[in-house]
Amino acid sequence: MTPELQEAGARLLAEHQKKIEQEVTSGGREAAFGRLLKHGTPDFAHGVALYLDDITVSFDGFKALNALSLAINVGELRCIIGPNGAGKTTMMDVITGKTRPDAGTASFGSNIDLLRLRENEIAQIGIGRKFQKPTVYEQLSVFENLELALAADRRARASLFSRLTGTQLDRIGEILTLIHLLPEAQRTAGLLSHGQKQWLEIGMLLMQDPKLLLLDEPVAGMTDEETERTAELFLSLEGQHSLVVVEHDMKFVDQLTQGRKTVTVLHEGSVLAEGLLSEVQANDKVVEVYLGR
Ligand SMILES: Nc1ncnc2c1ncn2[C@@H]1O[C@H](COP(=O)(O)OP(=O)(O)O)[C@@H](O)[C@H]1O
Ligand SMILES: [Mg+2]
Repeated sequence: MTPELQEAGARLLAEHQKKIEQEVTSGGREAAFGRLLKHGTPDFAHGVALYLDDITVSFDGFKALNALSLAINVGELRCIIGPNGAGKTTMMDVITGKTRPDAGTASFGSNIDLLRLRENEIAQIGIGRKFQKPTVYEQLSVFENLELALAADRRARASLFSRLTGTQLDRIGEILTLIHLLPEAQRTAGLLSHGQKQWLEIGMLLMQDPKLLLLDEPVAGMTDEETERTAELFLSLEGQHSLVVVEHDMKFVDQLTQGRKTVTVLHEGSVLAEGLLSEVQANDKVVEVYLGR
């Protein structure tokens, strides 16, 4: 590496670190933590990770979500399918605090009222979200991306100012293996394939050990092989995390549900059908609005 490059890299990292630090110390995480203690930590003893009830979201009178109710169990992997405009992304916006519903309730565990928390607070209590497009730090290495994700976690804040601990290094190694990027650890993230970038972003979410992961069309644009590996990755996360996966790729959904898990079909902002993939695929209403087209 030339001195110029080294300098540029150091500058870049410093900028990212400053950004994270600001997020940590300003109105964000510190203040949030005090508020969260008041709310308590999520209680999963009843087996429910996420509970939405009667959620309605209107945009200029148009109901993107219309009395939507949904429950996700602790450790469950739930696939959500449905035509474009069904409200799938809006549902994730509500769960993560990006959009406030007009009506309804949303809770995390049996005790946390999500509708009273801000977006950063929701991330802090263990809900991670993967948007459709990969968002990684393109100029940094795969390893550095994971390191930054670790630094963004307040519990690991010390790593911003000191060297990584052995435990943290182990954790990064574990995640690199899980997301199939161990051989690419020193590679610049910008040079990864689209699928690899998606995995890296999932890895960055996992660094913060979320209880609930929301994944919006994670395999869109992936090759068949990448799609299959992604299904394997999600299946390996099931149990330790709850996962809500929105996807159009039925082969992928089939691989994830293994003929025994519940699939939810969303249409016009409500649940149209729920059941095994084979059941919803045979449902006339589902065929009419979605699969048959
Ligand atoms: N910010 C917004 N303002 C106005 N309409 C919106 C907004 N976000 C989503 N919508 C509308 O809400 C409906 C549901 O959108 P979305 O949740 O993105 O559906 P999906 O993810 O299932 O394709 C669509 O008709 C969309 O145009
Ligand atoms: Mg969407």
